Order: sequence, then structure tokens, then C-alpha cells
Amino acid sequence: MDFLELCKGRRSTRFFSRAEVSTETLEGILEAGIWAPSGHNEQPWFFSVVRDKSLQDTISVKTKVLMKESPVSWIAKKGADPNFHLFYHASAVIVVSGKTSAYSAIVDCSAATQNMLLMAHSLGLGGCWIGLISPFLKLPEAKELLGIPEDYQGFYAIALGYPEAGIVPKAPSRKNPQVQWL
Ligand SMILES: Cc1cc2nc3c(=O)[nH]c(=O)nc-3n(C[C@H](O)[C@H](O)[C@H](O)COP(=O)(O)O)c2cc1C
Repeated sequence: MDFLELCKGRRSTRFFSRAEVSTETLEGILEAGIWAPSGHNEQPWFFSVVRDKSLQDTISVKTKVLMKESPVSWIAKKGADPNFHLFYHASAVIVVSGKTSAYSAIVDCSAATQNMLLMAHSLGLGGCWIGLISPFLKLPEAKELLGIPEDYQGFYAIALGYPEAGIVPKAPSRKNPQVQWL
């Protein structure tokens, strides 16, 4: 696939079919993640792959409790919405954590996340970057539930699955880039 076409065609997918994503496919997505650049080549990422639906549900419920308390009204509203599921009932969720002592952990983990989203799209999967999980990931119990090592901090998650047939997410329009050519 042409690379610009791949970038433009990737969409945040929020409706997933019931089809499960295989271990091999998830491994391929993780491999794309680790080929991201990283500051000082520290590769400071740690991935928790959550296929257990009851654990996904638990994290969604716990995160929504925190979202309801948010001073940001759209976040509080989503937290209170009984139909909102943090991971949109995805087949798998990858939680991305970074080593706290690393030079640029959150930037490196963001680069890895985008690689994984593009890889997922190239394989016909849908994915969605889930930043709303971050208040939950700050809780000590998150490390326990997700097997995150003590010296790492969870940043966000990726919901992954095959898109629900017939639902094609509309591409939000892009603003004109602000560029200074020198
Ligand atoms: C840092 C970050 C956090 C995001 N968090 C969420 C989220 O928690 N839930 C969600 O549905 N989408 C989330 N998104 C997806 C954005 O809403 C989406 O990328 C944006 O609307 C553009 O749509 P597109 O990805 O289809 O181009 C997040 C994206 C980024 C980059």
C-alpha cells in the first residue's frame, strides 16, 4: 500500500466485530511498535496485551468512575454514559507503559503506538488510541492488574479488532498545516 494512502486511510475505529485477533497478528503489531525510534535508543516501552474481556470491562468501569469526577465536562459526560465502553468492546487492548527513568519515555511510547496503529490498519484491523485510560493507569492497582513493572508508568492503550462490517468511520477533516518555509 502507498504510504500516504496508509496514513490517510487509518481511522480511529470504535465499532468492532466479534472476530478475535490472532496471537500471530498481535505479535506482528507489537513488532511494528518496537521498530519505532526512541530517545538515546532506550526503547523504554512495556506492553500489556489484554485479551481477557472481563479485565477489559473491569478497567473500563474503574476508569469511568474517575472520568465522572473530571472537571472537563465532555470527559465527565462520557464517564456517566452507561453505553460508553472505554475500549469499545475490542478484541484486544495493548496498554503502553514507559520506563520512568528513560530520557523521553512518553514520546518514544507515542511513536511505538503510532507504528502499531499503522501496522494494524495495514493488516485490515481497526484501532483506537485510548488516552482516557491515563487517570486509571496512575493508580497503584493498575500496575498489579496489568503486570506493569514497578519502574514503569502506564500512559495509554490501543483498542484493536476487526472493524464492524458496514461501519466506516468518517475521516475528521484536517486543518491546513501551519508551516514556515525558510
Ligand atoms: C493522545 C490521544 C488520545 C486519544 N484518546 C482517545 C480516547 O480515549 N478515546 C477515543 O475514542 N479516541 C481517542 N483518540 C482518538 C482521537 O479522537 C482521533 O485520533 C481523532 O479524532 C482523529 O481521528 P482519526 O484517528 O480517525 O484520524 C486519541 C488520540 C490521541 C492521539
